[in-house]
Amino acid sequence: MNRPVILGIETSCDETAAALFVDGSITADCTTRQVIHELYGGVVPELASRAHERLLAPAIEVVLRDSGARVSDISGVAVTVGPGLAGSLLVGLAYAKGLSTALSVPMIGVNHLEGHIWSAELQHETIPTPFLALLVSGGHTIMVRVIDFGKYEIIGSTRDDAVGELFDKVGRMLGFSFPAGEAIDKEADAFQGVSVRLPRARISGDPLSFSFSGIKTAVLYHLRERYPGSSDGFTLPVEDRSAVCAGLMDAVGDMLVRGINNAIDEGDYRALVVSGGVSASRYLRKRFNAISVEKALPIYIPNPRHCTDNGSMIAYAGFRRIAIGKTSPSNIEINPSLTLSDSSL
Ligand code: KG4
Ligand code: ZN
Repeated sequence: MNRPVILGIETSCDETAAALFVDGSITADCTTRQVIHELYGGVVPELASRAHERLLAPAIEVVLRDSGARVSDISGVAVTVGPGLAGSLLVGLAYAKGLSTALSVPMIGVNHLEGHIWSAELQHETIPTPFLALLVSGGHTIMVRVIDFGKYEIIGSTRDDAVGELFDKVGRMLGFSFPAGEAIDKEADAFQGVSVRLPRARISGDPLSFSFSGIKTAVLYHLRERYPGSSDGFTLPVEDRSAVCAGLMDAVGDMLVRGINNAIDEGDYRALVVSGGVSASRYLRKRFNAISVEKALPIYIPNPRHCTDNGSMIAYAGFRRIAIGKTSPSNIEINPSLTLSDSSL
């Protein structure tokens, strides 16, 4: 391909996103977070797919306009095919199929998790392999040995809640709107007092696995004991709320740092990558950066707007897939429970 112009489409959950990758870099990126879900305290699948239908075409128009490109310049359409919400994935895939057929250009089905992992290359140089990737988002908390693009070995994961899910559930108890990770992170980062001590779970015999649901229960008991309310929201002074936020970040930070350290001690890695929505946390980024110094291992974390779901990571992963000859047949289907080790793409 002479001049790759890859359109990336991401509609796996509640962000409608598109981006254009031209000649080795992202020229425009448009992400619309669907605020409607705030009213319900979580993503409502039916509303998400309807919103994607409304928002996707305008997002694509914006990235073409901002790049000074025409639709006919597109040489490949990359689209998330899983994991994610079925109805939402379908909207993106149907659009990508239509566009790639109309333009007679290849379509590239992308694994959302692969997109997150390699988003760390969007504003950094090539990451040396093998590297250890911690993917922390609303749906996933996994540690992956990345041997190369397309070659992954999941070495650890959460047994219950993902970290972002934990933040969003605790956020609801604390009265934050959905999703709560960013607000919790801000309060924790600004807090100077004594944080609430929360438990750090260990899974015996499995130093690379995590369990976060005990933290959620501990916060619930703490709040029930001291403040009026229910699991849908407690009334507490801001200073006390910040102490819970800081305690939550401390506990999660300690557990993630321990898991990463264990993985690094067991394997031979040339770099550490942390990505996914939770990696936007200022508080946790400090902890991750400290590991890099301590272990003398280069660290790559995407810039915050590429940590949460975005089209750039899909366009870039699409570009990488084309480079290894992996385009998709026109009858490719969505896979809501696609895993990283699934080689069907
Ligand atoms: O990667 P992502 O956008 O979607 C999934 O693939 O799940 O991650 C969303 C998650 C949410 O749970 C949100 O609360 C959390 O990432 N999050 C954060 C921050 N920004 C988003 N958590 C901590 N600090 C942040 N700044
Ligand atoms: Zn994601």
